[in-house]
Amino acid sequence: MADHARTELATSPFDAPLEVAARRARDWVRGLPDRPVGARAGLADLRAALDVPLTDEGADPATVVRELADASEPGLVATGSPRYFGFVIGGALPAALAADWLASAWDQNAGLHVGGPAAAVVEEIAGRWVLDLLGLPAGASFGFVTGCQMAHVTALAAARNDVLARAGWDVERQGLVGAPPVRVLAGEARHATLDRALRLLGLGTDAVEPVACGPDGRVRLDALAERLGRPGAAGPTIVCAQVGEVNTGAVDPVAEICDLAHDHGAWVHVDGAFGLWAAASPALRPLVAGVERADSWATDFHKWLNVPYDSGFAACAHPASHRAAMGTRADYLVHAEPDGPRDQMDWNPEFSRRARGFAVYAALRSLGRRGVADLVERCCALARRAAGALARLDGVEVLNDVVLDQVLVGFRDVDAGRVVEEVQRSGECWMSGTTWQGRPAMRISVINWQTGEDDVDRAVAAIEAAVASLTRVSPNRSEP
Ligand SMILES: Cc1ncc(COP(=O)(O)O)c(C=O)c1O
Repeated sequence: MADHARTELATSPFDAPLEVAARRARDWVRGLPDRPVGARAGLADLRAALDVPLTDEGADPATVVRELADASEPGLVATGSPRYFGFVIGGALPAALAADWLASAWDQNAGLHVGGPAAAVVEEIAGRWVLDLLGLPAGASFGFVTGCQMAHVTALAAARNDVLARAGWDVERQGLVGAPPVRVLAGEARHATLDRALRLLGLGTDAVEPVACGPDGRVRLDALAERLGRPGAAGPTIVCAQVGEVNTGAVDPVAEICDLAHDHGAWVHVDGAFGLWAAASPALRPLVAGVERADSWATDFHKWLNVPYDSGFAACAHPASHRAAMGTRADYLVHAEPDGPRDQMDWNPEFSRRARGFAVYAALRSLGRRGVADLVERCCALARRAAGALARLDGVEVLNDVVLDQVLVGFRDVDAGRVVEEVQRSGECWMSGTTWQGRPAMRISVINWQTGEDDVDRAVAAIEAAVASLTRVSPNRSEP
């Protein structure tokens, strides 16, 4: 018997658990359009289902996987549902999900080229495609990270290196004790992950000088100019711009920010977790005009590109600073030659790491340029549809100018938090709440490739029903 035939007949210890996993995964994703969106099981149910005795002997792998799926599914949120509008959570494209399965099966340690040459080359290629799609400089360096949080850490580490080196300080060697102070100018409406990145980098949140924003959360240029021009304010400075505020989707005037900041010798970092993907659409690109003039960028693949978690991207216009901040060496490793292949750990904060590039590569190839632009444009059009329909409902107000995929909704007669809870309880769709300028509100984020007009209309109907039921019972209702 030929070797390959023998292999085909033999069973492997992987067969049964992988078959269970494949069947359950397929059932899960197939059911996404129809299943209730929120988790059904409560905390006590989940603990009871999952807290089995950890035995001495272990258990049959396929049984473990089956029981894990049985116990977990009631406690899963169908974040891939076309009617999941919570936070800013993208779905998963079929090609990306399948490639991500392969990344698990192949189990490459994608820290070094030698740990998996294909994983390194895929990142090299997919990274170049991303720079091109987003209109960023072709010579920018990049790292595939877990998400925008770590993209900030990576990019701001490069920024820290650069602005301090220009002040004669080698932060990689000397650390921050005794270093010249680094100012960080960032909008009042910046994302929380920016502050956490500054904490992790030892700059601390006191380094932030908040810049006043307009009503939609866009940085005010006069306020930025005033901060930058303060007497005695020269010195290492990082300016953070945001394209896509998490509640309103508002986009900072990034071209003007770059001009102002660069005139003062500052580094410009862009938080483009989801909004940077506007640059992939010829129709929406003008919104983020000038973004390519920044010094570093952070974005996500697990948001608008619909790659499974966790997957983000840091890019930097100054590869030497990026590499100085992230590069690492160890005698027992096999590092690539300087002009040789790419070792991912020189551009990433991780050492051992998952081969995240496969899923990104598959997502980009399956969509193509037009597909990425369509995905972004479709989500924005659906957000406008939702906003238009909601604005026509009694007692409902759309609080933002819908420039991207985010709709911010206020309620005149009922508490927004209760509407959010009621809608979540319905299972029809899932949105999250927020407080915007002191006012409780509902956030709707349209960022899933499967979402269609019917899903938006069903979501609007669910909100209308929730408002109606709460208005009937609310003692606070202001009668006409
Ligand atoms: C503007 C912005 N920046 C950063 C982040 C953090 O992204 P991640 O959760 O991928 O770290 C988010 C998440 O929604 C965001 O909207």
